[in-house]
Order: sequence, then structure tokens, then C-alpha cells
Amino acid sequence: MAENTNQVVLVLGDDVSTDAIYPGRFMATVLPSETPKYAFADDAVFNPKLQKKEIAHGSVIVAGKNFGCGSSREQAASALKGHGLTVVARGIARIFLQNAINVGLNIVICAEIEAKAGDHLMVAKDKVVNVTTGREFGVTPLPESRQAIVDAGGLVPFTRKLLIESLADGGRGTRKYRIGWLPGDGIGIEVCAAARKVLDAVGFEAEYIPGDIGWEFWRTEGDALPPRTIELLKHVDAAMFGAITSKPVKEAEAELVPELRGKGLVYRSPIVRMRQLFDLYKCVRPCRAYAGNPLNFKEGIDLVVFRENTEGLYAGVEFNPVPPELSATLAQLSKNFAPFKTLAGDAYAITCKVNTRAASERIIRAAFEYAAAHAYPKVTALHKANVVRATEGLFLETAKRVAQDYPAIAMEDANVDAICMWLTMKPKNYGVLVATNLFGDIVSDLCAGLVGGLGFACSGNIGDKLAVFEPTHGSAPKHAGKNKANPIATILAAKMMLDWLGEKEKAEAIEKAVRRVVSDGAVRTYDMGGTATTMDMATAVAAALP
Ligand code: NAI
Ligand code: MG
Repeated sequence: MAENTNQVVLVLGDDVSTDAIYPGRFMATVLPSETPKYAFADDAVFNPKLQKKEIAHGSVIVAGKNFGCGSSREQAASALKGHGLTVVARGIARIFLQNAINVGLNIVICAEIEAKAGDHLMVAKDKVVNVTTGREFGVTPLPESRQAIVDAGGLVPFTRKLLIESLADGGRGTRKYRIGWLPGDGIGIEVCAAARKVLDAVGFEAEYIPGDIGWEFWRTEGDALPPRTIELLKHVDAAMFGAITSKPVKEAEAELVPELRGKGLVYRSPIVRMRQLFDLYKCVRPCRAYAGNPLNFKEGIDLVVFRENTEGLYAGVEFNPVPPELSATLAQLSKNFAPFKTLAGDAYAITCKVNTRAASERIIRAAFEYAAAHAYPKVTALHKANVVRATEGLFLETAKRVAQDYPAIAMEDANVDAICMWLTMKPKNYGVLVATNLFGDIVSDLCAGLVGGLGFACSGNIGDKLAVFEPTHGSAPKHAGKNKANPIATILAAKMMLDWLGEKEKAEAIEKAVRRVVSDGAVRTYDMGGTATTMDMATAVAAALP
């Protein structure tokens, strides 16, 4: 509970019923995110202010005895919580108090409280001070166990926190691995369920810890990767991620629940954030043409793209509009900025491409290490150093330097645009490719297209401590819920995860099973020209395990 002062916005008498707090006629609303709309809906003075967001988060309602009497309507507590209100009451009805604790409403029992609307209160766990009048009041503290629930934000986050803490204690039971399980949105849910079937069938013993991620959490909490999920990821050995939905800025804002709109919340891609937060600096994307796949561009293609995952054009250093101090500085420092220097700030936008020697070196080194370990004769470094001289030049220079440490592996470099052409003309001339973030993203999609497309494209976001594995595709809303998407990409992502965890035999078994099912050709999803469902494919792969 914050110890700073908050303004009293409403003073109520004794026996305020839940019907006054949350009128019964809005009972049908069951989503907690919708309830705040109806808080004090019948109060002509207070409710319009709530609706217009004139009430600051943390504002205080002061009430008399028996606050929240009447029905056991838990919407009453969540409606107040939704506005970030604190309740200081002389007494609280028993069931309302329990509901308030469960939803994490900040509620303080203060038998002597005296305050007028407009007064400022300092509400602490052991006292309430009316800063305006200078008077101090004792409070009846909640039992510690109850207060802990309120502090955690309610019963659901509290339980989750306990679970995570118990895992952090090493409570992994008899299982060897803890896997964060983040199916996300749309087909992400179906393909993850399919991959799970294969992981179980191969005998991978893990504890799967589900994590909240995706559009629903953006809509209702303003955060597609809530802090509890970040916390979870700190306590797992690896994570599987399905897919998330994301939308352009204006649409994203419009889909927020009303009470979150207009607060300047900005949607940020959860996968990009995971990469940056956990320093998942390697994005590894193997693209293999499994024999007999009708979608293969050519048989025998075997490419692995190493994409730098934390910086470059995805560093997130962006300006739209461009602030005048930035344009002034750029005009001073770069003569190439001359054509832009007189533009109004909102007439253009700037995205900075930031590449460091350290990050370039570690991704390039990872590519060479992989080539060495898997008997690829060369590494191709992709770049655009002839035009994007500073950052791409640095990348190329680093590649040349790192290559000297691997005399047994050839290094060639190529312009990224040219390589796109060569990859489609002579894909078998290439093996391990390495590139900066955006180029790696683009080229890896191209490579995926050569070996069956999104239904086959898997990827690992790998750091030194954590790795998150995913199919490259998105949530494909038009196929969501139809049990139709091809799960092979996700099954191969699971295979990559096993590899990374050191479960080489199981990883190999999964890849062999995929090869067998693909070449057999009896089970094919729609993208491969067949009619098999997502689960049919998973069942077939599970059955083909050696
Ligand atoms: P998408 O990858 O979701 O789907 C594009 C099309 O590819 C689908 O309509 C479908 O025809 C095909 N496809 C994708 N996965 C498939 C599978 N497993 N089996 C068979 N066919 C498959 O890309 P789209 O439609 O551009 O984006 C949809 C949503 O996903 C957007 O909100 C986007 O922002 C998000 N997205 C998320 C990603 C992630 O979570 N890593 C990556 C790409 C997009
Ligand atoms: Mg992409």
C-alpha cells in the first residue's frame, strides 16, 4: 500500500449496500474487466466522474459502518478495484470484506475515521492520517495471510506467486525439467497442444507451467506480457511459445477495456520483449526440406539461419514524431541529414539501427560453433555493408575477424538482397547463414518458404540462461479454433528445445518421426494438400516415434 497521500473523493454513511456500489441490474456482467463501468452507476454525482476518469488511481472512498452489506455480490468489490479506489470504512460487511480481499481491493478498517470530500489521507497498514486536518486514526489490521492476498493484487495473482516461489525453491518434484508453457492466441493454442502430445509420447518428463501472454492480457491489463509471466520465465529451464496476435497502434488502443483507454499504454510485442529482457540473443531457424514434402521448393535443402535477436532495427529506438532536439543534433552531425532538417517533426519518423560489436560477435560465433558441431563446411554472413556502412560494416568486419578463429570452416559474405536471389536459385549451395536482426528475420522467412512455409518453420530464441522456442508463424486468426493448422513447426520447435536441454536422443527421435510422417504422406494437413487435422498430425508423429 502506498504511503503517500490520496484524496477523498466520496464520503458515505453507514450501511452502504452492494446494490448501491454495484446495482443488481448489471449483474449479468461477469467479466471483471467490465465491472468498473457500473461502479456507483446510480450515483448521479460520483459515477459521471468515474466514467470520465476524473478520479485518480488511488483515490479514497470513506464510509461508515457495515460497508458493503446486502448481497454477496463480488462485482461490487471488483468494480471499485477496477478504478484503483481505496476504501477506508468504519466497518465492513463480512462477505464484502472477503470479496474485497479475493479481488485485491485495497480496504482499510478504521473505526474512528473522520474526513470530508477533498481531504487528503495518508493510508498505511497501521494508521490513517488525515493530512488536511492533522488527525491520526488507528486501524484494525487484516490478518497477515489476508493482507498478503490484497498486496499481491488478489487471490489469482497470489496463488500464482506462491506457485512460482515454490518452484524457485526447487520444488520441481520428481520431474527433471520445468518448462514455461505459453500457447498465447489463436492457433498458438492448438499447435502447442499438438506439440505437447508428441513431447509426452517421446517420454520427456517435465513440469509445464502455463503463463499468461497475448492479446487478452493486452486488452484487459494493458500488458501482453504481464509481470507474473516474466517472473515465471525466471524460474524455468526453457519455454515453449505458441503465437500471439498483435494489431496496429490505433486498433490496439481501441480494443483496450474502457478504463485502460487514454492512459498512454503502448502495445509492445511480447516476443520482442522476451528476447530483450532475457537477452535471448540467438534466433536460430533451421529450414530443412523433409523428403517427400509436397511443399518443398527443391529436395535436399538444409539451411540454418542465425539471426541477431536483440538489437539492430528492432532495438526499439524510434521517434514519430521526431523531437526538434534530435533533428538539430542530426543536422549538426551528419551532412546527409540536410534534406530532412527543415521538416516538421510529424512529417517524418526515425528508427535507429543500433548494432554493437559484442552482439554481432556472439551471434557470428554461435553460427560458426554450430557449423563446426554439425559439419557444415561454411558460414555465409549476410549484410548490406556497401550501403548501410556503419552498422552493417561493423557486422561484416566482425564476421571476418571471428572467422579467423575457425580455420576449418569457410566464411563467405554476401549482400542480403543478392542472397535472396541466390537462395531461390541455388539453395543447396548454402548451409549456415548469419545476419543482423531485420535481415535475418526476412531471410529466414524466405528460407522457410523453400521448405514448406509457415507450417514447417520453427525457431529458437536462445540466451545463455533461458531459451524460448516457437513456431515462426503467428496466430492465424482465420484458422483459429478449427483444429486445422499444421503443428509440425511447433513440434520441430519442441525438438529444438530438447536439443538445447541436452536431450539429444529424444530430439532426434522427434525429428525422425516427422521425417517418417512427411515422407509416408498418408497424413497431411491442409497446407500440404491433405485433410488431416492438427491433432491427426500430432497423433501420427507420436505414433511414428522410434
Ligand atoms: P500468420 O503467421 O498468423 O498466418 C498467415 C497465414 O499463414 C495463415 O493465414 C495461414 O494461411 C498460414 N499459416 C500460418 N501458420 C500456419 C500453420 N501452422 N499451418 C498452416 N498454415 C499456417 O500471420 P498473419 O496472418 O500475418 O498474422 C496473424 C496474427 O499473428 C497477427 O496479429 C500478427 O501480428 C501475429 N503474428 C505473431 C507472430 C508471433 O507470435 N511470433 C508472428 C507473426 C504474426
Ligand atoms: Mg518474421
